[in-house]
Formats: sequence, structure tokens, C-alpha cells
Amino acid sequence: MDDAFRSTRALKTQAYFAGAWRSASNGATTAVICPATGKEIGTVPRLTAADVHVAIDAAAEAFVGWSARTAADRAQVLKRWHGLILQEREALARILTSEQGKPLAESRAEIDISAAYIEWFAEEGRRVYGDIIPSPAPGRQTIVTKHPVGVTCAITPWNFPASMITRKLAPALAAGCTMLVKPSERTPFIALALVELAEEAGVPPGVISVLTGSSREIIKVMTDSAVVRKLSFTGSTAVGKDLIRQCSDTVKRMSMELGGNAPVIIFDDADVDAAVNGLMALKFRNSGQTCVCANRIFVQRNIAEKLSEAFVEKVRALKVGAGDQPGVQIGPLINAGAAQDMGRIVARAQEQGAQVLVGGGEPVPDSAFYLPTVLAGVTPDMDVARDEIFGPIAPLLVFDDEATVVAQANDTPYGLASYTYTRDLARAWRVSDALEYGMVGINEVAISNEVAPFGGVKESGFGREGSRYGLDEYLDIKYRCMGGLSA
Ligand code: SIN
Repeated sequence: MDDAFRSTRALKTQAYFAGAWRSASNGATTAVICPATGKEIGTVPRLTAADVHVAIDAAAEAFVGWSARTAADRAQVLKRWHGLILQEREALARILTSEQGKPLAESRAEIDISAAYIEWFAEEGRRVYGDIIPSPAPGRQTIVTKHPVGVTCAITPWNFPASMITRKLAPALAAGCTMLVKPSERTPFIALALVELAEEAGVPPGVISVLTGSSREIIKVMTDSAVVRKLSFTGSTAVGKDLIRQCSDTVKRMSMELGGNAPVIIFDDADVDAAVNGLMALKFRNSGQTCVCANRIFVQRNIAEKLSEAFVEKVRALKVGAGDQPGVQIGPLINAGAAQDMGRIVARAQEQGAQVLVGGGEPVPDSAFYLPTVLAGVTPDMDVARDEIFGPIAPLLVFDDEATVVAQANDTPYGLASYTYTRDLARAWRVSDALEYGMVGINEVAISNEVAPFGGVKESGFGREGSRYGLDEYLDIKYRCMGGLSA
């Protein structure tokens, strides 16, 4: 894996800011580990606070020119970037798998959606319309226009280290903003590879920065800065709450895409095969390390046995291994610590009365792999049903009636994604209306794409990514009241 990784043309090992590839001013570096092998695959600079200040100043300077360009002009640059990403799809997918662990097929799909965000926002950036509102008084005009927020920053996670970057960068750049990106310390190489292609596409110096190194040091400088006007974050609710507090002193705009505890409610009139296929795709994508994946699978009593048998059979057949090996469907978790967490979650669920139908057990020491697991006999009060799992463990809960299951599904501080399977149209509408979530998949689990508004309610955060709503997150509204216009 290491050789393939090193031979890719897009690999960059320096940070990128102020229009140049740079080391940390004190020469410090930080190691990146391949989850499948546990071996170091390279190092990136561990930037200092002084480096981050340089990047912020450059982003402020670049904003003047970038925001003054026409939307059509910015769109051309973004479209070139989109084309280059697709051209380098295979190299990028290999980098992604090497540092993140997911199977190559999933990495390729992630590169495709990463590019799709760029193309979508290149086009959508040309449709930033304002309003003229009929005035309440004679001789006046009420004019509303939209303007780029300014210098923005993004803090992105390791689970989708490419698409979570372009989902933020593309609308920011289309709107005319500049952006500082702080990728996860575990997955910086794909971020650097993407920005190399952005540079080649003609994104001007200072418009994008990729700041590698310690989150604690870099993020504090960005959140304290009055020059940075917006933060977009994808990550855990606990960290999100801290960032909200940190941004309060400078009253920054924020988008927060935080944790989830997604319910899947499968009614007895559902197409059971479709529901099982949906569960496989939803629960085991990225080894269950997604904030929209099934965390609680509620199945109506009279189909519970049939569904669990079909589900377990498919789970047992999943091929686990290093992401670059042919046919592998489940890669490692992000590190051995995450696999240990899975062992603890299963042991605790068993202590509380759940049964392991497949998988489970203690992970091998120092290994990031954990077997795909199905738990039966789970009840809503168990820890496994209350906490975000973030791994390949599927808890099955049995329910009897609609009102009770909807109340149970909503009984969580989270409100990101939810799903239901039913053939009854009226029930589909009623249940999706009652679910207190930002997103509801009805007989469908592939809910995330560039045209749809991705985001949550409650402690899953606020703001939307993707879709035309995603562009609004990078635009401020200005209202002009023009008077003295009477003849
Ligand atoms: C996630 O943020 O964990 C899921 C991202 C996606 O499905 O697009």
C-alpha cells in the first residue's frame, strides 16, 4: 500500500498557505498512520500559531480580489478544479484509502461526490439573486443584495476527508469567500492533494489554505481572530459545543454538522429485502463511521425474526480487510483505539441484556479491525441505543406500534438523519412529519448528495451543506433603503 501511495502524482507533504507550499516555521512535523497496517505513511508540518496568522492575513488580502471577480469567472476556475479531480480520481482514491482505511470502491465514490459538490456550487454561484421588496412608504426603494461573508474557516473530519472539505470549500469559493481549511490530523494528505489540484486549476494564492498540525493550536488562532468571519465544522457534538463557545467572542457565523443517533424504523408492511439491503448500505458504509448511519434499528415485531435472519446472513458474508485489497467491503476503523471502543460497546450491551447474533468479541490488540456485528434484544434505555456508536455495530430493537416507536426514535438529544421503511403512503408522511430530524429517508438510505440540504436539528447542529441552502451559509444579506425618490 505504501508504494502505491508514494507513487501518486498528487501527493504533497507540505502545508499550503499564502499561495505557497510551506513547512512549519519551527520545522516541526506530525506523523500520519495507515489504519490498516498501523505504520507511518508520511509526515506533514505541525504549523505554529505564527504560521496560522500568516495564512489568515493572506486570506484577507486574497478576499479583495476573489470577491471582486464575477461569479461566472469564479465558476470557470471551479469547473477546471472539478475536471482535474475527476482526471486524478484513482490517485486521489488511493491516497484516501491509505490514510483513512475505507475500501477503494468507497474512496472512488467519495472522490466523485467531492467533485460533484464543486461542479454544483460552480453553477449555483451564478444564481445568487437579491430582492426588491415593495416599499411601505412612497419615494423609497427596499433593495436586498447578498455578499460574501469574507474570510472563512473549515474544520473537517477524518471519516470523509475529501467530501467534507469540498462541501465547504466549493460554496465558500463560489460565493466569493476565501477559506482556511484545518483537516483532521489523521487524514491531511487528501486535503493537500485536493488543494494542489485547485492551485493547478487557477485558484489564486491565499484563497484556499490547508493548515496541517495540531487541532488545538491551529483552531484557537482561527476562532480568536476577528478577521475570520465564519466557521464551518463537521465533527462531534462535544467539540462543536466548545467551538460555539470559542466563536462567541467574535460573534462569528457558524455552521455545525455534529453527531447523530439515527433511527431506522421498519414497519411490517415494508419490502423486507429492500430494508435489509438499505441496512447493509447504511450501517456498514465506511465501517459504520458516519454520523448518518443506522444507530438504532427498530423493527416491527411480526417481521423481526425474518428481517434479522436475512440481515445476519448478509452481515456474515461481508469481506473484511485492508481497503486496497480486491473485494473488501469493510476496512479498518480509524485506529486501534476505535476498535477497542467497539469491543467495550458490545460488552456493555451484553451486560445490559443484548445478544450478539454475529461478530462481537474483543478486537485483536493493536489492530484497527472490528468484525461487523449485529445485536438483538436491544432496548431504548441501553447505552448502545443512547450513544453514537461510530462503528460496525447494528443494534436491533423490536416495537409494536407507531406512536411508541416515533416517541422512542425522538427520545435523543440528536436530530441529524432518520429513516423509515413502509409501503403505506399516509404512514410515511405521518411518521416523517413527526420525526424530529433534519433529514428523513423514506424507503431510501442514500440521502447525501450535492443537490440536497444536509444538516440537523437539536444537538446535531445547525446550517445546511449542499443544495442552494448551502450557498446561503457563505452569504450575508445587505438591505438598502433608498429614499428621496419621489418626483
Ligand atoms: C457524515 O458526515 O458522517 C456523513 C456524510 C455524508 O453522508 O455525506
